[in-house]
Amino acid sequence: MNSSVGTPVQPCWVGRASYGLMWLGILALAASGIGTFALGRAPMSHWILMAHVGASPLFAIGIAGVALSWPAPELRRGPMEAIWYWLLLVAGLVVILSGVLPMTPLFGTHGQEFLYLVHRYSGMAVAVIAVLHAWSRR
Ligand code: HEM
Repeated sequence: MNSSVGTPVQPCWVGRASYGLMWLGILALAASGIGTFALGRAPMSHWILMAHVGASPLFAIGIAGVALSWPAPELRRGPMEAIWYWLLLVAGLVVILSGVLPMTPLFGTHGQEFLYLVHRYSGMAVAVIAVLHAWSRR
């Protein structure tokens, strides 16, 4: 019989390092992105925008590592952790694509404005979901 049944399987060191990197990114990106919005300074510009985009690889590399190295959700702590995990990956993909695609001319001015709003609100969703995911693992 499989001795791991009933015992949550923990991420390996690559998974834990990726998770830490992802959280570093979330803290920097939420402080700069959500902070700009909350202080009524939108749209983000100048050095805060450079800091935000400069910190974005931490999040992108971290969440990619989490997606590739974490054990299957059903082997972890229960259904809520699995739900928050998958929602985090989906919202993370949306926030990355909506952050990067407006830097290309592919979608025109209206498309860029739309993606900017998608990015702002999916960024807020990522922050909330990441907290709920961490809470479900405690
Ligand atoms: C690869 C990841 C990311 C990239 C490349 C990125 C890039 C950007 C860029 C370029 C802007 C400015 C948009 C514009 O002025 O048109 C922006 C705004 C914003 N970002 Fe991100 N971002 C990333 C991840 C995140 C994450 C993870 C969050 C939240 C946790 C976040 C929250 C925000 C918010 C709230 C704004 C809007 C600020 C405002 O109201 O002006 N971003 N991001």
